[in-house]
Amino acid sequence: MDPAQFFAASRLVIVAGKGGVGKTTVTAALARAAALSGLSTLIVEVEGKSGLASVFGREPLSYEEITLSPGGGPEGAADIRARTLTPDDALLEYLRDHGMSRISKRLASTGALDVVATAAPGIKDILILGKVKQLERAQAADLIVLDAPAAGHAITFLLAARALLDAVRVGPINTQAREVLDLLTDAERCQVMLVTLPEETPVNELVDTAYHLEDRVGVSLGPVVVNGLYSVIPGLDADPAAAADDASTSLRDGEANSLRAAADFRRHRMDLQREQVERLGAQLPLPQLQLPYLFNADLGPPELEQLARELLHGIVKLEGAHP
Ligand SMILES: Nc1ncnc2c1ncn2[C@@H]1O[C@H](COP(=O)(O)OP(=O)(O)OP(=O)(O)O)[C@@H](O)[C@H]1O
Ligand SMILES: [Mg+2]
Repeated sequence: MDPAQFFAASRLVIVAGKGGVGKTTVTAALARAAALSGLSTLIVEVEGKSGLASVFGREPLSYEEITLSPGGGPEGAADIRARTLTPDDALLEYLRDHGMSRISKRLASTGALDVVATAAPGIKDILILGKVKQLERAQAADLIVLDAPAAGHAITFLLAARALLDAVRVGPINTQAREVLDLLTDAERCQVMLVTLPEETPVNELVDTAYHLEDRVGVSLGPVVVNGLYSVIPGLDADPAAAADDASTSLRDGEANSLRAAADFRRHRMDLQREQVERLGAQLPLPQLQLPYLFNADLGPPELEQLARELLHGIVKLEGAHP
């Protein structure tokens, strides 16, 4: 499938998944892949501290939008912009836009939002998603990629609209929740891409999450991203015994044995990962995009580039006109 067509299928992509599986890394790689395909991209990070900007070699983000990576270059990439959203800022902005600046100042100074949030759970999520909806409507970029909150919060985040709609029957919160739900359930405007590691528990949780999101929120799911696959090291993994034997002509016995042990360990891990990938495919009928595990202490711009290219390769191999 043509990547430009893939990324143009819906203006908003929400990247979700269990804590630590690589949502932020995948968000960055998707944005870079979209930009390389010629789509201007806006990354929205929720509540800060995701580490997203550092993958681009930049300082942490703020509520003010910045250009993370300008367009151009030999491949004529589009630009990537980014910003953080917090419920407090989103509420203040909402009140300001609705002629309530004086109230908004008082709310900010008294911390009233926390009181409201305790009384009406989900309100913070709706404030965030309401702002995302506004960005989507304003066509803030060709593609908006939302790095959904961490640690199992992604489902409640997405369920918040439906819950609030049931709880609050009239008024601006109801309108806001309804409009957010309209966005989330419209496949032409929004899709969710779930991320997992090729390990037993994350795969189980991903399958549960996928069915929950489809049944209870009614969102459209894009391909699943399987992150952190060990890739074959030619020579070592293809024929580890030969590699160790070759090496042993120049290495002492102990070193050749360590090499053989390392190769065995990797092969074992790769087998386990392959089993999980197959199980995921059998339990969830969604296409997969696979990303390699990169052996670097910190992921920066060169690794981002590599992951973006891997995504593009995977997208080209996807079938069908729709992701
Ligand atoms: N393919 C990869 N290869 C190597 N390291 C990776 C890869 N993907 C992610 N990482 C590393 O794993 C850690 C977790 O990744 P990331 O922050 O993207 O996950 P997350 O799902 O956003 O986490 P959180 O739930 O805390 O927001 C980071 O240190 C990141 O650099
Ligand atoms: Mg993150």
